[in-house]
Amino acid sequence: QKDGYDWFMRKEIYEQPDAVANTLLGRHSKEGKLVLDELRMSEDDLRKIDKIIIVACGTAFYAGLVAKYAIEHWTRLPCEVELAHEFRYRDPIVGPTTLVVCISQSGETADSLMAVRHAREQKARVLAICNTNGSTIPRESDAVIYTHAGPEIGVASTKGFMTQLVACYVLGLYLAQVRGTKFDDEIAATVAELEAMPAAIQSVLDGIEPVIKLAEEFADEPSVLFLGRHVGYPVALEGALKLKELAYIHAEGFAAGELKHGPIALIDDQLPVFVVVPPRGRDQLHDKVVSNIQEIRARGARTIVLAEADDQAVEPYADLMIKLPKVSTLLQPMLAVVPLQVFACELATRKGHDVDQPRNLAKSVTVE
Ligand code: F6R
Repeated sequence: QKDGYDWFMRKEIYEQPDAVANTLLGRHSKEGKLVLDELRMSEDDLRKIDKIIIVACGTAFYAGLVAKYAIEHWTRLPCEVELAHEFRYRDPIVGPTTLVVCISQSGETADSLMAVRHAREQKARVLAICNTNGSTIPRESDAVIYTHAGPEIGVASTKGFMTQLVACYVLGLYLAQVRGTKFDDEIAATVAELEAMPAAIQSVLDGIEPVIKLAEEFADEPSVLFLGRHVGYPVALEGALKLKELAYIHAEGFAAGELKHGPIALIDDQLPVFVVVPPRGRDQLHDKVVSNIQEIRARGARTIVLAEADDQAVEPYADLMIKLPKVSTLLQPMLAVVPLQVFACELATRKGHDVDQPRNLAKSVTVE
């Protein structure tokens, strides 16, 4: 079932354009209106929600971190994101007007399941975002949005993460539609952008050769850093997690603005640092990240920059620039994560590791 690929992980990375299309299928009208019957909540009840809490673990948690930016921006509802195991064993403020969203590819992660049970005991409405039909978490939730990515066999989540992002965007846009916090044409424009993502992801994959070469070059690095800001921050965390779990290399992701508060002390000569650069826009995000890159480069780091293809402001500070298609800031994680997945997969296979079954890991973690 590897369809000619040597590893499931590689296959699943390349399946992402189709997976995204499948997650979107049937979830919006031609006019760009969201359809989300599976929420099983009346519009009246949806309007009563006053808080969203996303619970998840690992990569799914990072999808949740991205979702927070989008959901709060579009719906103006407070949205917290919490590691499921932390949520469960404290005393979170949850009630009947809280929507708890559990993101889980497998639907069997014990930590996430316990959080779902805890939320339901507190009378919260629980929605699962899940890839595995009929698994435990959706069965114990009030409603489920299936991601329809197809089976994910590789232990490291790739298309699972990608389609979790899509499901979260769809949810956020739907809530904005129901609550009237975004104009219909703004929602339709974002839906159109989502519809264009499979082609955009494909073009990132088509131009991936420099990333494969980079993985060969960096195979013996002891440590790699990843930086991002705004939605680029969870992408940095995900890039670091992929490298740790597959290549067994020390890797850390930081919010770029946090550098000067400590981590910049780690930067020394030749340290590889990946930086996710936000699209140029009306805010100052882009320029702030460019100055972060200048700071680390001045201290000798090798900078691998993921940025819009024609971003000339950043190019002079990049040892390697990985060019991404134009997209709005909130959706950029869907493109920026792809080279990081490929980098980790290529580097790990180059070192001779089994990327489908990394050491010490299981596909679904069914113990707390
Ligand atoms: C990392 C990875 C894990 C999972 C986490 C949650 O590549 O796969 O971090 O994301 O164990 O798993 P699910 O989504 O099945 O609940």
